[in-house]
Amino acid sequence: MSRTTEPSSSQPFVSLVGAGPGTPDLLTLRGLQALQRADVILYDALLEPDFAALFREEALALPVGKRCGGGTPQEHIHELLLTHAKPGVHVVRLKGGDPLLYGRGGEEAQLLEAFGIPFEIIPGVSALQGVASASGIPLTHRGVSRELRVLEGHHLLDDTVDWEELARFKGTLALFMATRSVQGIARRMLAHGANPSHPVALVERAFCEGQVTTISTLALAAEGHLCCRTEGPGLVLMGAVIHERTRPFASHFSVTHIHDPATALHRSERSPRAAGGRGERRAG
Ligand SMILES: C[S@@+](CC[C@H](N)C(=O)[O-])C[C@H]1O[C@@H](n2cnc3c(N)ncnc32)[C@H](O)[C@@H]1O
Repeated sequence: MSRTTEPSSSQPFVSLVGAGPGTPDLLTLRGLQALQRADVILYDALLEPDFAALFREEALALPVGKRCGGGTPQEHIHELLLTHAKPGVHVVRLKGGDPLLYGRGGEEAQLLEAFGIPFEIIPGVSALQGVASASGIPLTHRGVSRELRVLEGHHLLDDTVDWEELARFKGTLALFMATRSVQGIARRMLAHGANPSHPVALVERAFCEGQVTTISTLALAAEGHLCCRTEGPGLVLMGAVIHERTRPFASHFSVTHIHDPATALHRSERSPRAAGGRGERRAG
């Protein structure tokens, strides 16, 4: 589908653009085209510096990111959007991952709508897909997991959660913003009957310099062994799909740290039935 709205000299225009998980070459072509037209770019400070090479030299580029609650408050980002969105000006709000997944893109869209400012939303590769491809851990796998549940770990321990149901969940759990709370979450799940050997993976800096994947278990995570090895960001995956990790083709795909060797078998080391997909396997 082609674009239906274009910036005009009488109106401002804002593009909310998903930058992908880290590296500029995972930006979509449409996102790149918006960047190359932009007069003003408000970009997440978490993004790798390489993105700056894609900005027009004449563009005004302002870092506005947040990390762990610090950085530019969302209200200030809103003010900047309204200040710069003037007639004839194309503003790009470049956001990590996808704008509408834990990205507050929905709030920014509501703001623009409330002020009658024309805008578009350009999707990005979320960290969810990024960590899966970077680590080779599938999010779903035939015969193993047909369900994916995405959660936010930062407030999970304070939220009203049906922990028994979560502990019984047979699909894949993806936990954003959970590197600091993973120990508490693992403890809570074990207390509600989860299997201590349930596989857990922490993928840090997917598609960024210094990418690291650690494979562990719920029991070890509950004891505090699943810790960040980088400054982050990191995403936690839980589920039997971790056993289905695909054989890495390049060294940067490798799992770098393994707490439980049983969870880290290469495909060729398991039975061909399990790897070949003809035999159904149950989630453990
Ligand atoms: C505020 S959320 C933004 C998510 C983003 N909108 C998306 O779609 O990926 C930030 C969280 O995304 C995850 N994340 C972002 N980039 C990542 C990366 N390159 N590797 C691993 N996790 C990442 C981390 O859990 C981090 O705390």
